[in-house]
Amino acid sequence: MTPAAPHPLSGLLAFWAEAGVEFAYDDAPVDRLAEGARRLAPKPPPPAVNAKPAAPSRTPLAAHDAEAFDLAKAAAARAIDLPALEAAVAAFPWGGLKARAARTVFARGPANAPVMLIGEGPGAEEDQSGEPFVGRSGQLLERILAAGGLEGRVFITNTVFWRPSADRTPSQAEQAMCLPFVERAIALVKPRILLLAGGASAKHMLRRSEGILSLRGRWFDWTPEGGGEPIPALPILHPAFLLRQPAAKAHAWQDVLTLLSRLDRST
Ligand code: URA
Ligand code: URA
Repeated sequence: MTPAAPHPLSGLLAFWAEAGVEFAYDDAPVDRLAEGARRLAPKPPPPAVNAKPAAPSRTPLAAHDAEAFDLAKAAAARAIDLPALEAAVAAFPWGGLKARAARTVFARGPANAPVMLIGEGPGAEEDQSGEPFVGRSGQLLERILAAGGLEGRVFITNTVFWRPSADRTPSQAEQAMCLPFVERAIALVKPRILLLAGGASAKHMLRRSEGILSLRGRWFDWTPEGGGEPIPALPILHPAFLLRQPAAKAHAWQDVLTLLSRLDRST
Protein backbone atom coordinates (compact mmCIF):
# COMPACT_ATOMS: atom_id res chain seq x y z
CA MET A 1 0.00 0.00 0.00
CA THR A 2 1.46 3.37 -1.00
CA PRO A 3 1.23 6.04 1.69
CA ALA A 4 -1.37 8.69 0.87
CA ALA A 5 0.06 11.96 -0.42
CA PRO A 6 -0.09 14.62 2.30
CA HIS A 7 -3.43 16.36 2.22
CA PRO A 8 -3.12 20.06 1.23
CA LEU A 9 -4.85 20.94 4.48
CA SER A 10 -2.05 19.45 6.54
CA GLY A 11 0.30 22.14 5.23
CA LEU A 12 -2.14 24.83 6.27
CA LEU A 13 -2.59 23.23 9.70
CA ALA A 14 1.19 23.08 10.13
CA PHE A 15 1.41 26.79 9.25
CA TRP A 16 -1.28 27.66 11.80
CA ALA A 17 0.48 25.59 14.45
CA GLU A 18 3.74 27.39 13.80
CA ALA A 19 1.89 30.67 13.99
CA GLY A 20 0.59 29.67 17.43
CA VAL A 21 -3.02 29.04 16.43
CA GLU A 22 -3.97 26.13 18.65
CA PHE A 23 -7.74 26.25 18.93
CA ALA A 24 -10.23 26.37 16.09
CA TYR A 25 -13.10 27.39 18.40
CA ASP A 26 -13.82 30.19 20.79
CA ASP A 27 -15.40 29.51 24.17
CA ALA A 28 -18.66 31.11 23.01
CA PRO A 29 -20.29 30.61 19.60
CA VAL A 30 -19.79 33.44 17.09
CA ASP A 31 -22.53 34.35 14.62
CA ARG A 32 -20.39 35.18 11.56
CA LEU A 33 -23.47 36.05 9.47
CA ALA A 34 -24.52 38.76 11.92
CA GLU A 35 -20.96 40.05 11.95
CA GLY A 36 -20.95 40.31 8.13
CA ALA A 37 -24.31 42.08 8.10
CA ARG A 38 -22.97 44.57 10.63
CA ARG A 39 -19.96 45.31 8.41
CA LEU A 40 -22.14 45.78 5.33
CA ALA A 41 -24.59 48.13 7.04
CA PRO A 42 -24.24 51.73 5.79
CA LYS A 43 -21.95 53.71 8.03
CA PRO A 44 -23.38 56.81 9.66
CA PRO A 45 -21.66 60.00 8.49
CA PRO A 46 -18.78 61.02 10.74
CA PRO A 47 -19.95 63.47 13.36
CA ALA A 48 -18.90 67.03 12.71
CA VAL A 49 -16.57 68.26 15.40
CA ASN A 50 -18.24 71.35 16.63
CA ALA A 51 -16.39 74.53 15.90
CA LYS A 52 -16.87 75.97 19.35
CA PRO A 53 -14.70 79.02 19.50
CA ALA A 54 -11.58 78.26 21.54
CA ALA A 55 -11.23 81.99 22.04
CA PRO A 56 -14.74 83.39 22.56
CA SER A 57 -14.32 86.27 20.13
CA ARG A 58 -11.91 87.66 17.61
CA THR A 59 -9.23 90.19 18.50
CA PRO A 60 -10.89 93.60 18.82
CA LEU A 61 -9.89 96.06 16.12
CA ALA A 62 -8.09 99.35 16.78
CA ALA A 63 -10.40 102.36 16.57
CA HIS A 64 -9.18 103.52 13.15
CA ASP A 65 -9.58 99.98 11.82
CA ALA A 66 -13.07 99.65 13.29
CA GLU A 67 -14.26 102.39 10.98
CA ALA A 68 -12.77 100.65 7.92
CA PHE A 69 -14.32 97.40 9.11
CA ASP A 70 -17.79 98.96 9.16
CA LEU A 71 -17.19 100.14 5.60
CA ALA A 72 -16.12 96.62 4.59
CA LYS A 73 -19.27 95.14 6.10
CA ALA A 74 -21.54 97.63 4.38
CA ALA A 75 -19.77 97.26 1.01
CA ALA A 76 -19.84 93.45 1.21
CA ALA A 77 -23.54 93.41 2.09
CA ARG A 78 -24.35 95.58 -0.94
CA ALA A 79 -22.60 93.27 -3.42
CA ILE A 80 -25.31 91.32 -5.19
CA ASP A 81 -22.98 89.04 -7.15
CA LEU A 82 -19.30 88.07 -7.39
CA PRO A 83 -18.30 90.75 -9.93
CA ALA A 84 -19.87 93.38 -7.66
CA LEU A 85 -18.06 91.88 -4.67
CA GLU A 86 -14.74 91.90 -6.52
CA ALA A 87 -15.29 95.55 -7.43
CA ALA A 88 -16.15 96.36 -3.79
CA VAL A 89 -12.95 94.67 -2.58
CA ALA A 90 -10.86 96.56 -5.14
CA ALA A 91 -12.47 99.87 -4.17
CA PHE A 92 -12.16 99.28 -0.40
CA PRO A 93 -10.51 102.37 1.08
CA TRP A 94 -8.07 100.85 3.57
CA GLY A 95 -4.57 101.92 4.48
CA GLY A 96 -3.55 98.48 5.79
CA LEU A 97 -2.16 95.70 3.59
CA LYS A 98 -3.71 97.33 0.56
CA ALA A 99 -1.47 100.38 0.67
CA ARG A 100 1.68 98.32 -0.02
CA ALA A 101 0.36 95.70 -2.45
CA ALA A 102 0.68 95.94 -6.23
CA ARG A 103 -2.69 94.31 -6.99
CA THR A 104 -5.90 93.23 -5.35
CA VAL A 105 -6.12 89.42 -5.46
CA PHE A 106 -9.76 88.45 -5.11
CA ALA A 107 -10.55 84.94 -6.30
CA ARG A 108 -10.71 82.53 -9.22
CA GLY A 109 -12.90 79.59 -10.12
CA PRO A 110 -16.53 78.88 -11.03
CA ALA A 111 -19.15 80.99 -9.27
CA ASN A 112 -21.24 77.89 -8.52
CA ALA A 113 -18.35 75.65 -7.38
CA PRO A 114 -19.30 72.88 -4.92
CA VAL A 115 -16.03 73.43 -3.05
CA MET A 116 -14.47 76.70 -1.92
CA LEU A 117 -10.83 76.84 -0.83
CA ILE A 118 -9.61 79.61 1.43
CA GLY A 119 -5.83 80.05 1.51
CA GLU A 120 -3.79 82.39 3.63
CA GLY A 121 -2.96 85.36 1.43
CA PRO A 122 -1.35 86.29 -1.89
CA GLY A 123 2.39 85.85 -2.43
CA ALA A 124 4.70 87.60 -4.88
CA GLU A 125 3.36 85.92 -8.05
CA GLU A 126 -0.24 86.50 -7.02
CA ASP A 127 0.56 90.15 -6.24
CA GLN A 128 1.88 90.52 -9.79
CA SER A 129 -0.86 88.61 -11.61
CA GLY A 130 -3.89 89.55 -9.47
CA GLU A 131 -4.99 85.88 -9.25
CA PRO A 132 -4.79 83.63 -6.17
CA PHE A 133 -2.61 80.51 -6.07
CA VAL A 134 -0.75 80.92 -9.35
CA GLY A 135 2.83 80.56 -8.02
CA ARG A 136 4.57 77.33 -6.98
CA SER A 137 2.06 76.65 -4.20
CA GLY A 138 -0.74 77.17 -6.66
CA GLN A 139 0.75 74.72 -9.14
CA LEU A 140 1.00 72.06 -6.44
CA LEU A 141 -2.53 72.87 -5.33
CA GLU A 142 -3.78 72.33 -8.90
CA ARG A 143 -2.04 68.93 -9.01
CA ILE A 144 -3.60 67.91 -5.71
CA LEU A 145 -7.08 68.99 -6.86
CA ALA A 146 -6.60 67.27 -10.23
CA ALA A 147 -5.62 64.04 -8.45
CA GLY A 148 -9.05 64.14 -6.83
CA GLY A 149 -10.82 64.94 -10.11
CA LEU A 150 -11.63 68.41 -8.80
CA GLU A 151 -10.06 70.60 -11.46
CA GLY A 152 -12.41 73.41 -12.38
CA ARG A 153 -14.72 72.58 -9.46
CA VAL A 154 -13.12 74.71 -6.76
CA PHE A 155 -13.60 78.42 -6.09
CA ILE A 156 -10.27 79.69 -4.74
CA THR A 157 -9.71 82.71 -2.53
CA ASN A 158 -7.71 83.78 0.56
CA THR A 159 -8.26 85.21 4.05
CA VAL A 160 -6.75 88.51 2.82
CA PHE A 161 -6.84 90.04 -0.68
CA TRP A 162 -3.50 91.86 -0.59
CA ARG A 163 0.01 90.46 -0.22
CA PRO A 164 1.50 90.98 3.24
CA SER A 165 4.95 92.43 2.62
CA ALA A 166 7.86 89.97 2.85
CA ASP A 167 5.27 87.18 2.74
CA ARG A 168 4.63 87.25 6.45
CA THR A 169 1.50 85.63 7.82
CA PRO A 170 -1.37 88.14 7.81
CA SER A 171 -2.25 89.40 11.28
CA GLN A 172 -5.57 88.56 12.91
CA ALA A 173 -6.63 92.19 12.51
CA GLU A 174 -5.84 92.09 8.79
CA GLN A 175 -7.78 88.87 8.39
CA ALA A 176 -10.69 90.28 10.40
CA MET A 177 -10.81 93.31 8.12
CA CYS A 178 -11.25 91.12 5.04
CA LEU A 179 -13.69 88.69 6.67
CA PRO A 180 -16.92 90.49 5.64
CA PHE A 181 -15.84 90.09 1.99
CA VAL A 182 -14.83 86.43 2.50
CA GLU A 183 -18.17 85.70 4.18
CA ARG A 184 -20.05 87.43 1.39
CA ALA A 185 -18.13 85.36 -1.18
CA ILE A 186 -19.18 82.20 0.69
CA ALA A 187 -22.81 83.39 0.75
CA LEU A 188 -22.76 84.08 -3.02
CA VAL A 189 -20.94 80.90 -4.12
CA LYS A 190 -22.84 78.71 -1.62
CA PRO A 191 -20.24 75.91 -1.65
CA ARG A 192 -21.19 72.57 -0.12
CA ILE A 193 -17.74 72.28 1.43
CA LEU A 194 -15.05 74.69 2.58
CA LEU A 195 -11.37 73.75 2.41
CA LEU A 196 -9.18 75.78 4.73
CA ALA A 197 -5.58 75.61 3.51
CA GLY A 198 -2.94 76.03 6.20
CA GLY A 199 -2.90 77.08 9.81
CA ALA A 200 -3.50 80.79 9.24
CA SER A 201 -6.70 80.10 7.31
CA ALA A 202 -8.04 77.26 9.48
CA LYS A 203 -7.46 78.99 12.81
CA HIS A 204 -8.96 82.26 11.63
CA MET A 205 -12.03 80.83 9.90
CA LEU A 206 -12.83 78.34 12.68
CA ARG A 207 -11.78 80.58 15.59
CA ARG A 208 -9.60 77.82 16.98
CA SER A 209 -6.19 77.93 18.53
CA GLU A 210 -4.86 74.42 17.78
CA GLY A 211 -2.17 74.01 15.15
CA ILE A 212 -2.95 72.87 11.61
CA LEU A 213 -1.32 69.49 12.18
CA SER A 214 -4.00 68.76 14.75
CA LEU A 215 -6.88 70.42 12.84
CA ARG A 216 -6.21 68.90 9.40
CA GLY A 217 -8.34 66.07 8.12
CA ARG A 218 -11.16 66.68 10.65
CA TRP A 219 -14.60 68.07 9.82
CA PHE A 220 -15.81 71.24 11.49
CA ASP A 221 -19.00 73.23 11.09
CA TRP A 222 -18.26 76.70 9.82
CA THR A 223 -20.93 79.29 10.60
CA PRO A 224 -20.98 82.93 9.52
CA GLU A 225 -20.24 85.55 12.19
CA GLY A 226 -23.87 86.63 12.36
CA GLY A 227 -25.15 83.04 12.50
CA GLY A 228 -26.77 81.03 9.72
CA GLU A 229 -26.64 77.64 8.06
CA PRO A 230 -23.37 75.83 8.90
CA ILE A 231 -21.12 74.56 6.10
CA PRO A 232 -18.82 71.55 6.59
CA ALA A 233 -15.22 72.78 6.64
CA LEU A 234 -12.08 70.68 6.28
CA PRO A 235 -8.69 72.11 7.27
CA ILE A 236 -5.91 70.82 5.00
CA LEU A 237 -2.15 71.30 4.89
CA HIS A 238 -0.99 74.34 2.96
CA PRO A 239 0.68 73.48 -0.39
CA ALA A 240 3.62 75.73 0.57
CA PHE A 241 4.17 73.45 3.58
CA LEU A 242 3.98 70.38 1.34
CA LEU A 243 6.68 71.89 -0.89
CA ARG A 244 8.95 72.07 2.15
CA GLN A 245 7.86 68.72 3.64
CA PRO A 246 7.12 66.39 0.70
CA ALA A 247 6.57 63.43 3.05
CA ALA A 248 3.43 65.18 4.32
CA LYS A 249 1.82 64.69 0.89
CA ALA A 250 0.46 61.39 2.19
CA HIS A 251 -1.68 63.43 4.61
CA ALA A 252 -2.73 65.70 1.77
CA TRP A 253 -3.94 62.69 -0.21
CA GLN A 254 -5.82 61.37 2.82
CA ASP A 255 -7.52 64.75 3.12
CA VAL A 256 -8.52 64.70 -0.57
CA LEU A 257 -10.14 61.30 0.01
CA THR A 258 -11.91 62.64 3.10
CA LEU A 259 -13.19 65.55 1.01
CA LEU A 260 -14.32 63.30 -1.85
CA SER A 261 -16.26 60.94 0.40
CA ARG A 262 -18.23 63.85 1.86
CA LEU A 263 -18.72 65.47 -1.55
CA ASP A 264 -20.10 62.21 -2.96
CA ARG A 265 -22.54 61.89 -0.09
CA SER A 266 -23.83 65.43 -0.55
CA THR A 267 -24.48 65.19 -4.32
N1 URA B 1 -0.48 81.06 -0.74
C1 URA B 1 -1.73 81.36 -0.33
O1 URA B 1 -2.12 81.09 0.78
N2 URA B 1 -2.53 81.96 -1.23
C2 URA B 1 -2.16 82.26 -2.46
O2 URA B 1 -2.96 82.79 -3.19
C3 URA B 1 -0.86 81.92 -2.87
C4 URA B 1 -0.03 81.31 -1.98
N1 URA C 1 1.87 75.45 9.08
C1 URA C 1 0.91 76.02 8.35
O1 URA C 1 0.55 77.17 8.53
N2 URA C 1 0.30 75.30 7.40
C2 URA C 1 0.62 74.02 7.18
O2 URA C 1 0.02 73.42 6.31
C3 URA C 1 1.62 73.42 7.97
C4 URA C 1 2.23 74.16 8.91
